[in-house]
Amino acid sequence: MAPLNRQVRLQSRPTGVPGPEHFLLAEAPTEEPGPGELLIRNEYLSVEPAMRGWVADLNNYSAPVPIGSVMRSLAAGEVVSSRHPDFQEGDKVIGWFGWQEYATVPAVAVTRKVTENDLPLSLYLGVLGINGVTAYFGLLDVGQPRPGDTVVVSTAAGAVGSVVGQIAKLMGCRTIGITGGVEKVQLCTDLYGFDQALDYKALGEDIASELAEACPNGINVYFDNVAGAITDRVLGHLAIGARVVICGTASIQSWTPVPTGPRVERILLTRRARAQGFVVFDYQHRHEEAIARLADWVRQGRLAFREDVQDGIESCLGAIAGLYRGENLGKRIIRLYSR
Ligand SMILES: NC(=O)c1ccc[n+]([C@@H]2O[C@H](COP(=O)([O-])OP(=O)(O)OC[C@H]3O[C@@H](n4cnc5c(N)ncnc54)[C@H](OP(=O)(O)O)[C@@H]3O)[C@@H](O)[C@H]2O)c1
Repeated sequence: MAPLNRQVRLQSRPTGVPGPEHFLLAEAPTEEPGPGELLIRNEYLSVEPAMRGWVADLNNYSAPVPIGSVMRSLAAGEVVSSRHPDFQEGDKVIGWFGWQEYATVPAVAVTRKVTENDLPLSLYLGVLGINGVTAYFGLLDVGQPRPGDTVVVSTAAGAVGSVVGQIAKLMGCRTIGITGGVEKVQLCTDLYGFDQALDYKALGEDIASELAEACPNGINVYFDNVAGAITDRVLGHLAIGARVVICGTASIQSWTPVPTGPRVERILLTRRARAQGFVVFDYQHRHEEAIARLADWVRQGRLAFREDVQDGIESCLGAIAGLYRGENLGKRIIRLYSR
């Protein structure tokens, strides 16, 4: 008999960060795959800050998740049965399988077949997945770091930020991380090798003077995952010719109404700086290049990572809200099953 499938469905649309009240844990029969489809048993589900945007009724880079449907998510799992010639039972796959225990999906939902078997599957959702690839192309293609540059990274202890900091070090840069809390500051310096880490929660407005001291020649690359007040203060310290990578806006609780802040045009003009938005999905065609390089760094012990693992599908309900409270120490994933 086909197993029962537990799913997390979007129940209502939040205006800001989605909490448990916006989701519903439901049961449904597991569907047999039709022609061209696969049945996948999810082992790990991903949790992303971007999910706030995916459930919002806002102009975004992807259509909003429909009310009542399974929450959109990347997941890592194993093919249970396949009616597509490129996949067979037992294949390990990453893809858009949603927050559910089993997924019956067309083969195009698979973003990657994991053929390497020397590294844990869960890493392909984090340091070797969307977060690592974001860090890789966001920093190297958009930030264009040069040896000796000073690189400042926000959400520095997180899944993306920790990889940005380490790649910047590998490129010969000085790295300054911005993060919240003593434990994360310590992670940044001790595990991720930042030259310095600043606790924005403890420093408040003093972060501006701390940055001035930490970056006496200005900031050459700012990898921005937060926007808002932290970014306003970082921008005041840009060096001539600086590159600002606009990767995330984690500190903005809601875009309705649109928050206001200082005008930055004069800073960009006088520093001849460039600010550029980045979306990892634009680099789909080059993901393998990044994954191969990131995996080599992991194997060589040159790229450290942490996973923030929660157990059971019910953990999904509050998982995004927890990210926005900064609870996660590393890449947040939900473990459903592992061998
Ligand atoms: N553009 C793209 O293609 C792309 C792809 C992936 C991720 N991203 C972005 O990259 C950023 C990091 O994502 P991630 O997956 O690596 O998550 P993460 O950093 O592992 O977790 C999110 C972190 O955001 C920080 N945060 C939450 N609310 C904040 C606030 N009000 N002010 C300042 N910091 C806050 C918290 O760290 P602290 O405790 O340090 O505050 C939290 O741990 C997000 O903005 C995400 O949207 C962008």
